[in-house]
Amino acid sequence: MNKLYLWGIIITVVMLAATYYTLVITAGDSGKSLSEILSGDIVNALAIAGAVALVFITIFVVIKYVRQMQTDTADGKLAHEKWDGIGEYLNELPMGWAIMFLLTIIWGMWYFVLGYPVNAYSQIGEYNEDVAVHNAKFEKEYESITGERLVEMGESVYLAECKVCHGISADGIDGKAANLNARIEAKSVKYAIEHGANNHLLGMENPMPDRNGLMNNNTGALITDAEIDAVSTFVANKMTGAGADVFAGTCAVCHGEDGKGMESVAPNIVAFTPELVINILNHGKKGAIGAMPAFDRLNAKQKEAVGAYITSLSK
Ligand code: HEC
Ligand code: HEC
Repeated sequence: MNKLYLWGIIITVVMLAATYYTLVITAGDSGKSLSEILSGDIVNALAIAGAVALVFITIFVVIKYVRQMQTDTADGKLAHEKWDGIGEYLNELPMGWAIMFLLTIIWGMWYFVLGYPVNAYSQIGEYNEDVAVHNAKFEKEYESITGERLVEMGESVYLAECKVCHGISADGIDGKAANLNARIEAKSVKYAIEHGANNHLLGMENPMPDRNGLMNNNTGALITDAEIDAVSTFVANKMTGAGADVFAGTCAVCHGEDGKGMESVAPNIVAFTPELVINILNHGKKGAIGAMPAFDRLNAKQKEAVGAYITSLSK
């Protein structure tokens, strides 16, 4: 007899024995005898019959294909090309298969454009919707917060979002970012004068001219290096010391006598205001120290709160 059939019979017997053995164990556990299980419930009997049938079918289907592999020889016309000695038969594409293939492509396009990915549900979309709903709820809930509580809320936003660059005590970490305990350092004032500035500090685009556009009305000439140094220290020292005359002659027209700015003309340069901070958060800022990113992920109330917090620091 073919060795294959012998193996088939051996494996069948082993598997049937294993099935029987499992049944005996189950029967033992439930306190019933095997014949009780088989006669008691037709479902059990059917399941066992199914298991036995599966064993036979599996074994003999496997045997059929293994035998076919042993005896089959290839026939048919070979394609012209060979890949490393491996040939390919010139078989006609089955029509049914070709149709299915085309239908799959059409369905794929439909699915991509009108079905799931582009059109309907997406996790990112759902996330964004959830965040929008949550933000609306959040803003409504905290709408009425003002004063001390707003500053406290701003402090938590600050600790979460800003301290990486500005430091826990908002000192700017040795010049890596702006020191937020004071409105502005002399080097930043100097930078703004020399290069001009266009950071939307007023909420809209309204640039400050560079030194070639800054005339000192006291002298009738463009601002000089010495005047720039003097006025920068003057502004950084909260409008005290030498340089007052340069400020009055050159800067006051836009920034006001007291440096507190004029709406739509020039920003406050002696103190932070919530509006100024909000504008910086909306647009980011580039200057003498470096670049600060805009903070789109904060909602309006959070920006207002952190603005109140920063304003409170420099007081
Ligand atoms: C023509 C009006 C005008 C004049 C004159 C002017 N500024 Fe400005 N200044 C502006 C505007 C507008 C901004 C806001 C620019 C922006 O949005 O970045 C500004 C911004 C600034 C800033 C903020 C820069 C920053 O990085 O935060 C400083 C500091 C400043 N000015 C100082 C001065 C000084 C000092 C003078 C005088 C030497 C002066 N400005 C003269 C219009 C003016
Ligand atoms: C990635 C680092 C980074 C983060 C995070 C960051 N900043 Fe800044 N910030 C900077 C840098 C750098 C500057 C200085 C820009 C310049 O050269 O004027 C700056 C400047 C500022 C200024 C302007 C100071 C001035 O005198 O003109 C304010 C206000 C400010 N940041 C507030 C914040 C707040 C509020 C947060 C958190 C919501 C924050 N920053 C987060 C880097 C950062």
